[in-house]
Amino acid sequence: MNLNIFGSLLVCGLHLTLTFGGDVTLNITEDGHATISNDLFNVTFDNNASVLALGKNGKDLVGTVTARTFYFDWNAGGGKFLPTEFKIITNSSNLVHIMYFQPFSHKRLEMDGFYQWLKVQNNGNETVKMSEFRMVYRLSKSLMPYINNMRRNGVSPNNFNSMPTIQDTTWQLTDGSYWSKYDYVSYIRETPWFGVYGGGVGSWVISPSREYHGGGPLKQELLTQHESLMCHYLTSKHFGTLEFDTKPGWSKFYGPWLLYINSGDNEMVVEDVARQAKIEIDQWPYNWMEDSDFPIERGTVMGSVTGQLSAEVVIYDSFDEPFEYQTRGYLYNNKTDENGNYVIKNIRPGNYSLIIYPLAGQGSENLITKNITVVSGNQVLDPLDLTEPIGILWAVGETNRRSDNFRYSDELRNFYWHMFPPENLTFYIGKSNSNKDWYYAQTHNGTWKVVFEDMPNGRTRTLRIAIAAASGSLIFNLQSAKLRVSLNDALIFEKEYENEGAIYRGMLQSGKFYSEKIEIPSENVTNGTNVIALTVVYGGFMYDAISYQIND
Ligand SMILES: *[C@@H]1O[C@H](CO)[C@@H](O)[C@H](O)[C@H]1NC(C)=O
Ligand SMILES: *[C@@H]1O[C@H](CO)[C@@H](O)[C@H](O)[C@H]1NC(C)=O
Ligand SMILES: *[C@@H]1O[C@H](CO)[C@@H](O)[C@H](O)[C@H]1NC(C)=O
Ligand SMILES: *[C@@H]1O[C@H](CO)[C@@H](O)[C@H](O)[C@H]1NC(C)=O
Ligand SMILES: *[C@@H]1O[C@H](CO)[C@@H](O)[C@H](O)[C@H]1NC(C)=O
Ligand SMILES: *[C@@H]1O[C@H](CO)[C@@H](O)[C@H](O)[C@H]1NC(C)=O
Ligand SMILES: *[C@@H]1O[C@H](CO)[C@@H](O)[C@H](O)[C@H]1NC(C)=O
Ligand SMILES: *[C@@H]1O[C@H](CO)[C@@H](O)[C@H](O)[C@H]1NC(C)=O
Ligand SMILES: *[C@@H]1O[C@H](CO)[C@@H](O)[C@H](O)[C@H]1NC(C)=O
Ligand SMILES: *[C@@H]1O[C@H](CO)[C@@H](O)[C@H](O)[C@H]1NC(C)=O
Ligand SMILES: *[C@@H]1O[C@H](CO)[C@@H](O)[C@H](O)[C@H]1NC(C)=O
Ligand SMILES: *[C@@H]1O[C@H](CO)[C@@H](O)[C@H](O)[C@H]1NC(C)=O
Repeated sequence: MNLNIFGSLLVCGLHLTLTFGGDVTLNITEDGHATISNDLFNVTFDNNASVLALGKNGKDLVGTVTARTFYFDWNAGGGKFLPTEFKIITNSSNLVHIMYFQPFSHKRLEMDGFYQWLKVQNNGNETVKMSEFRMVYRLSKSLMPYINNMRRNGVSPNNFNSMPTIQDTTWQLTDGSYWSKYDYVSYIRETPWFGVYGGGVGSWVISPSREYHGGGPLKQELLTQHESLMCHYLTSKHFGTLEFDTKPGWSKFYGPWLLYINSGDNEMVVEDVARQAKIEIDQWPYNWMEDSDFPIERGTVMGSVTGQLSAEVVIYDSFDEPFEYQTRGYLYNNKTDENGNYVIKNIRPGNYSLIIYPLAGQGSENLITKNITVVSGNQVLDPLDLTEPIGILWAVGETNRRSDNFRYSDELRNFYWHMFPPENLTFYIGKSNSNKDWYYAQTHNGTWKVVFEDMPNGRTRTLRIAIAAASGSLIFNLQSAKLRVSLNDALIFEKEYENEGAIYRGMLQSGKFYSEKIEIPSENVTNGTNVIALTVVYGGFMYDAISYQIND
C-alpha cells in the first residue's frame, strides 16, 4: 500500500497542514525553512513554499531535484506563487498550520483555504484491506462549538464524561434528550459542504464533486460530529457499505476537496461557505490540477427514461461491486426532470455501468443496467424504459428507496424516534393516511396490518414490499432482523435480513434497500375484507413502499 501524495494547494494563500501519523511538529530554521513532520514522513518548505525535502523511510524523495518542486502556479495571467508573507497559524501536537500568502489581484482576498487530494495505489501483488478511509479534522472546541451539515445546524456538546452511554456514541444528556454522533449524518452526495464554526471563524470541507466517494446516491455518512470534529469519509462501512479491499494494480484519485477557512460572525460564515461552494462546483473539474490521473476533459451523458419518468440515474465503474455499496470506483448520479430527461456532467472518460431505478410509482424491483463508454464531450444515449406495473389495487407510499412521506421520516435524525412508532397498527386502505398513520419504520416486535377489500377473479396477486432499511439492535445485540408476512392469517413470506445498523443509529429514511415481490394464488384472496399482516419477529424494518397488484 502506497500513499503516494498528500497534496495541499492554495487558491490565494498557501496553507499546509499535516495531520497523518501521530503527533505533528513544526520546526523553523534561521533561514526561514519550515519543516513539518510526523512519524510517517516530513516535508520542508522554503520561503517560496516550494518543497526542499520530502523525507520518507530514510530517503529524501526530492533530493535529486534541482528545479523548484511542489510549488503552485495558476493558468490565468501566467501566475507564479511567490509569497510575501509567512505565518504560523497553529503549532500544536495534532495540527500544524502554516500559511504562505501572496496578495492576489482577484477579488477573493478574504478567502483562505487549501485543497487536498490523495492518490492511492496498490502496487503490490496482494489484496490490501482498507476497511474505512477518511480524513479527520479536529477544531478548537472552545473557539468553534457550532456545527453545520447543510441539513442541520447546532451546538456540538463536548463533555460526555458524566452522562450515561445508551449505545455506540449515543448519550442521554441531563435534560433527558439524546445526543449521538449519528445525529449529524447526512446524504453525502446531497451535501457539498459542512463544517465547524464560532469565535469569528469557520472551518469547512467543500466537496464540489463526490465522484471518488464509496457508496451510491443514498450513501449517508458522518460529517460533523461532537467535539468540533469534521470527518471526510472517502469510504466507510456505515449502513451497508462493503469491505474496502484494494486489489493489486488498483489505483484511485480522491479529491481535490477544499478545506475552507473563513471569518465573520456565525451567520456570515455559514452564508459565505454556501456561496463559496457554488464557486467551487462551477470550477469543477479544477483545471489547475495537473495529473494524468485527474482528467480535465470530461464527458457529459444525456438521455431519457420512458415509462416511470421520475428516476435516479447512476453511472459507476466498479463493475464487480453493487453500485449502492461500491468502494473502488468513481460514481456519478443525477435525477431525471419531469419529462424523464437526464444529464450527468463531468464524467471521467472510461467504461461504466449505467443504472436507472424509479423514484416514484410502484416498480420497486425495476433496475436498468447497461454498459456504456463515456468519452470527453457530449453524448446522447437511446431512451430506456422503466416499465410501470399495471393493475395496482392499492399502495402505501411510492418507491424511491426511502421511507419519506411516512410519519417522522422528515424529522432530524435522533436516537429517540425509534421509540415512537406503535408495536401494532391497522392501516385501512381508502381511509388511513400514509403521512400520518404509517410510520417511518416498524421498530418494535409487533404486527402492522393493512386492511383492504378485494374480490377473487381467478387471477393471482402480486404484493410488493420495498424495504428501505432492515436493522438489528445494538442494545439487544441482534445481528439481523426478521420479517414475517401473512395474508388472512396464512403465512406468505418470511425472511431474515442482515443488520446494517441504520434504524438504531437514528436514520429516518434509508439504510440498505431490498425489493421483495410476493406472488399470491388467486384462491387465497377472500371475497370482501382481506388483511396483510407485517410482523417484525425481531429487529426493525423501514418501508419504502408496499403495493398490491391484480395480475392479468
Ligand atoms: C512548535 O511547538 C513545539 C512544541 O510546543 C515547539 O517545540 C516548537 O519550537 C514550535 N515551533 C515553532 C516554529 O514555533
Ligand atoms: C530544528 O532545526 C534546527 C536547525 O536545523 C535543528 O538544529 C534542530 O535540532 C531542529 N529541531 C527539531 C526539534 O527537529
Ligand atoms: C523565491 O523566488 C524568487 C523568484 O523566483 C527568487 O528570487 C527567490 O530567491 C526565491 N527565494 C527562495 C528562498 O527560494
Ligand atoms: C525527515 O525524514 C528523513 C527521511 O526519513 C530523515 O532522514 C530526517 O531526519 C527527517 N527530518 C526531520 C526533521 O524529521
Ligand atoms: C509478491 O511479492 C513478494 C515481494 O515482492 C514476493 O516475495 C512474492 O513471491 C510475490 N507473490 C506472488 C504471488 O507473486
Ligand atoms: C443534474 O441535472 C440538472 C438538471 O436537471 C443539471 O442542472 C445539473 O447540472 C446536473 N448535475 C450534474 C452533476 O450533471
Ligand atoms: C472499454 O471497453 C472496451 C470494450 O468494450 C475496450 O476495448 C476498452 O479497452 C475499454 N476501455 C477502458 C478504458 O477500459
Ligand atoms: C459490462 O462490463 C463489465 C466489465 O467489463 C463486464 O464484466 C459485464 O459482463 C458487462 N455487462 C454487460 C451486460 O455487458
Ligand atoms: C401487539 O400485539 C401483540 C399480539 O397481539 C400483543 O401481544 C401485544 O400486547 C400488542 N402490543 C401492544 C402495545 O398492544
Ligand atoms: C393459501 O390458502 C391455503 C388455505 O388457507 C393455505 O394453506 C396456503 O398456505 C395459502 N397460501 C398462500 C401462499 O397464502
Ligand atoms: C363476492 O361477494 C359479492 C357480494 O358481497 C358477491 O356479489 C360476489 O358474487 C362474490 N364473488 C365471489 C367470487 O364469490
Ligand atoms: C423481539 O422478539 C425476539 C424473538 O422473539 C426476542 O428475542 C426479543 O427480545 C424481542 N424484543 C423485544 C424488544 O422484546
